Amino acid sequence: MTMQVSKPMRVAIFGATSGIATAVARRYAESGARLVLVARDQASLTAAAADLEVRGAAEVEVQEADFARTADIPATVAAAWTRFDGLDLAVVAYGTLPDQQEMEAESAKAEQALVLNFLSPALLCGELAHRFEARKSGTLAVISSVAGDRGRKSNYVYGAAKGGLQRYLEGLRHRLFAAGVQVLDIRPGFVSTKMTAHLSQKGPLWASPDQVAADIVGAIQKRKEVLYTPWFWRWVMMGVRNAPGPLFHRTSL
Ligand SMILES: NC(=O)c1ccc[n+]([C@@H]2O[C@H](COP(=O)([O-])OP(=O)(O)OC[C@H]3O[C@@H](n4cnc5c(N)ncnc54)[C@H](OP(=O)(O)O)[C@@H]3O)[C@@H](O)[C@H]2O)c1
Repeated sequence: MTMQVSKPMRVAIFGATSGIATAVARRYAESGARLVLVARDQASLTAAAADLEVRGAAEVEVQEADFARTADIPATVAAAWTRFDGLDLAVVAYGTLPDQQEMEAESAKAEQALVLNFLSPALLCGELAHRFEARKSGTLAVISSVAGDRGRKSNYVYGAAKGGLQRYLEGLRHRLFAAGVQVLDIRPGFVSTKMTAHLSQKGPLWASPDQVAADIVGAIQKRKEVLYTPWFWRWVMMGVRNAPGPLFHRTSL
């Protein structure tokens, strides 16, 4: 009798030093996955790889990339894809939350935010899409944000980038349906990471990266298309999306 041994899952994380991505990577490491970590800081990557190996990862490869350099994206994806001869899961987690008023005053800052939060992840997903499509399997899990659900005066540049990313993923999901590839749009609310370190991070709307990571891993397993995390953001954003414009003009949101 031959025994079936399941192969470790091959997972690449783009933006692997993010607070949310770190919590996701730990969960896959604990299940014995092989991981490719892609981020811009070599020292953080080395430390993350050591941590994930201790937690049970079968293998960890690291790769440096600055995702603001969009011309490098095809080579970055090609290198990550070939580490383990293909991927079962790609998680796209990088982003920035710049100051809205600074972006209103300086177009160059708005441009950087739009590149990093929309153009770059969209191009990266495009590079991954045709590879997953050719294999007829795999999961592309991308962190957008609840901020993409409606334009608000307090953060509409970031919100526009995330909203654009949501539309891109929606279209990609329709394209990849026939190939059986899952495209998951992850929409977190407030999460306590270094991105939000300037805020109080206290109150019932705040979640830990680990809570969000548990939801992400669950949504990947269940082959969901859109994840609001924690769950109550689906209902919060339904209210926000449906609030009348004249009322919205008068809020500070
Ligand atoms: N925290 C929240 O409340 C929240 C809510 C909704 C959505 N999100 C989204 O969740 C994702 C993860 O964010 P997070 O909360 O985990 O924040 P985070 O810990 O600050 O992670 C952001 C990551 O983006 C990376 N990054 C920024 N610019 C980069 C560049 N040019 N090249 C390479 N990497 C770059 C950072 O790298 P370094 O480590 O080198 O700085 C960091 O790893 C982002 O897409 C964010 O927009 C977060």
